[in-house]
Amino acid sequence: MSQLALLGGPKACSFDRVETWEPDYEREIALCSQIIRERAFSNTGHPIALEFEQRFRELVSGTEFVLPQNNGTSTLIAGYFAVGVGPGDEVICPTYTWICSFAPAMVLGAKPVFCDLDPETLCLDPADLERWITPRTRAICVPHLFGSVCDLDPIMEVARAHGIAVVEDCSHSHGARYDGKPIGSIGDVGCFSMQGASPSGKPVGAGEGGVFCTNNRHYYERVLAFGHFNRYNISTELTEPPLTELTTATWGMIKFRATNLSLAIGLVALDSLEYRNRRIKENYDALLGLIADVECLRPVKSYPKAENAGFYGNLRLIFHPEAAGGLSPERFAAAVAAEGASLGGRNYDGYHLTSPFSTGMAFYDDGRGVISPQEGYVPQGPGSLPKAEKVIPNILALPTMIDPPDGYIEGMATAIRKVAHHYRDLL
Ligand SMILES: Cc1ncc(COP(=O)(O)O)c(C=O)c1O
Repeated sequence: MSQLALLGGPKACSFDRVETWEPDYEREIALCSQIIRERAFSNTGHPIALEFEQRFRELVSGTEFVLPQNNGTSTLIAGYFAVGVGPGDEVICPTYTWICSFAPAMVLGAKPVFCDLDPETLCLDPADLERWITPRTRAICVPHLFGSVCDLDPIMEVARAHGIAVVEDCSHSHGARYDGKPIGSIGDVGCFSMQGASPSGKPVGAGEGGVFCTNNRHYYERVLAFGHFNRYNISTELTEPPLTELTTATWGMIKFRATNLSLAIGLVALDSLEYRNRRIKENYDALLGLIADVECLRPVKSYPKAENAGFYGNLRLIFHPEAAGGLSPERFAAAVAAEGASLGGRNYDGYHLTSPFSTGMAFYDDGRGVISPQEGYVPQGPGSLPKAEKVIPNILALPTMIDPPDGYIEGMATAIRKVAHHYRDLL
């Protein structure tokens, strides 16, 4: 094939539109109009909110308690609070995730402790958990990133052996399963984000929103009491003393309730979730099949019991510079972009090497804070998580495709294959 576009040759493909799927605008407008006309913005047991809760309960079937929240971050704060995370505790979380996986525990006074990745799946490495467990470890955060389900069996085994709670961060992976069970229903608590709008936002996008899930009545009641005062059913739902003593007039630490408008948009997104998940998977498989012989670009693997889904943002690939004469992933991606296709970057850096976690930082003027050097915070430093440190710089990503235009997948593959074929010209 001809010269690389990055070096002045013709582009391999050209698309003015990369996605033809559209949300059901009419249903969104109808539900929101109903809420606006009824002036029913706050959730007092509105039928649309109840339908949303019911539909989400079906998504995480087997989960008894499902509680909508105002965003994913607040859902994680609630999740950590539910399992008892508090001042002086430690929470283990993989270094490669979005900060909201673990920062909510810091709000409650806990210190983040970062663990390594399985370099084949980019998920939390279950084999690296024990090393970081101390008498202060209260919870393990399990982020199922970009649709990839973590290996929950060994994680739960370690957690149970040490009496540590598991908080699943399901923000990217609505509809994914492990061993036949929906994610969010396996750990002690499951936390979903609904930030953004389908198709580019979270798989169930609701503007801003989240959902807390658990099978543990005690955890559910703690979350209700924590952030849901004035919820329509709170007086009958709180059954455990001393929570039963709380009244809306005397209680209200923080407020995490979702609005009905968000839940209406989330409900419409739930309608199309299965279709979108299926199409994204089919399209990934088709594209990956067309680039299967590109040795420098390998898809992430998934665990035998995992049924990945949701696929927020993208599908990650691992670039192997050694199979491309030492070419950098950035240069490879730039060359693919010049061909008219899209190959994104690594999304997140490892937090243990990123400020303020690499240096420590006080949150208050007098030096206090859970990662404050004055309070004894010792950064983990380079070399502490070798697998993550090696693989993160080589992460690339394909875009999410639901109903791409005709020829888009083939165009992407042609662009990637052209660059892989001519990599020597880039050295
Ligand atoms: C992995 C992960 N966890 C938690 C969150 C927090 O969700 P929210 O933005 O709804 O607060 C996000 C948001 O992008 C996320 O990517």
